[in-house]
Amino acid sequence: MKIRIGIEALGVAVPRRYVDIEDLARARGIDPAKYTQGLGAREMAVAEPGEDTVALAATAARRALEGIDRDSLGMLVVGTETGVDHSKAVASFVHGLLDLPPTMRVYDAQHACYGGTAGLMAAVEWIAAGSGKSALVICSDIARYGVATAGEPTQGAGAIAMVVSANPSILELDVGISGAYSAHVHDFWRPLGHREAQVDGHYSVQCYLDALAGAYRGWKERAIARELVRGDGLVSERLARICYHVPFCKMARKAHVALRRCDLDGDDTGADASFREQVEPSLGLCARVGNVYTGSLYFALAGLLDDQAASLVGQRIGLFSYGSGCTSEFFSGVVAPRAAERIAAARVGEILAARARISVDEYERIMALVAPFDDTSAPGTFRFTGVTEHRRQYTSA
Ligand code: COA
Repeated sequence: MKIRIGIEALGVAVPRRYVDIEDLARARGIDPAKYTQGLGAREMAVAEPGEDTVALAATAARRALEGIDRDSLGMLVVGTETGVDHSKAVASFVHGLLDLPPTMRVYDAQHACYGGTAGLMAAVEWIAAGSGKSALVICSDIARYGVATAGEPTQGAGAIAMVVSANPSILELDVGISGAYSAHVHDFWRPLGHREAQVDGHYSVQCYLDALAGAYRGWKERAIARELVRGDGLVSERLARICYHVPFCKMARKAHVALRRCDLDGDDTGADASFREQVEPSLGLCARVGNVYTGSLYFALAGLLDDQAASLVGQRIGLFSYGSGCTSEFFSGVVAPRAAERIAAARVGEILAARARISVDEYERIMALVAPFDDTSAPGTFRFTGVTEHRRQYTSA
């Protein structure tokens, strides 16, 4: 009998502060329309040092695990490209902070923004192999390009934790049907010891689009062979929605236009309408948080389901994960009957509404900090408090 595998529960965490993207544009002497329309941004999450990758991951995981039997877990993977130690895994900190069972496989996965998908795929394959347990997969990152750089308006931070199991009450994945594409390119990287990323921005957009075409073709071939997609018209239109990796919202539009080109011979007259229906509903949450590297694709998924889960039950959605450097994967899944109820439990709107808008001056001050500056935690969240004898310390409210 086929095992159903996918996402059973999820939780999100975002920093407590954000900058309005129009304030940032004005402070840089740039037309705000470049950031709002040109990049599709609205707000950008700003993490202070106390809200590090571990604290965000543990907070998201605690939320995802509400109502889940912790003894059902046998694996914890954190996908991140902004870890806190060259050796000790973020997952190891999270495992301890949440007091999870010792009989678990616990590790980090890294390949730029793809790390979370690496964790998700490993979890799915491990469950399909008969582990008999569930997995906790967390994507947690702080995207930093630096003050007054071209990448500055595409920063952000946050974490999303997913319980992956044989009881996929949010999204049942099409196991074994995905397309992958990789190439050795220098589009984005962060040399050891650097806080900010190096990026060849326009080249990275092209690398993303090339990878998308390669990965999508692989998925399409398998999806047709396994009769997942049927009917007339473009294969991509057989997907009710498509969630893309979203380093900035406009990237999802570029991606969607390029994806359709893989299906079309001639001119594309339906791209605008198709973007509005298939992609735009997934961008609301991303536009309010900014880039979350490994988490961006899954923030798109969470935002989409928070908005439309009830009307998408039983429908198939596509997902594209891209990690610079590069590797990528296109895969799909079907929205499960309890998706609306489970996503409501994640309280995404409430978490966003609890944030405070800060000035650009305050954002610049926070960006320059290396030690936590504020010792108050919001209820239910974790915080990094400092280093004692080379050991990072955390607290929870
Ligand atoms: N009003 C409306 N739109 C405007 C505008 C204005 N006044 N001024 C510019 N724009 C548009 C441009 O036409 C462009 O749109 P297009 O891409 O559809 O042509 C968009 O705004 C961005 O302008 P551009 O000049 O290309 O921006 P930039 O050179 O400052 O850099 C990135 C943009 C994305 C390359 C940069 O932010 C970056 O490096 N980001 C990090 C890397 C990244 O996220 N890569 C993604 C793949 S992983």
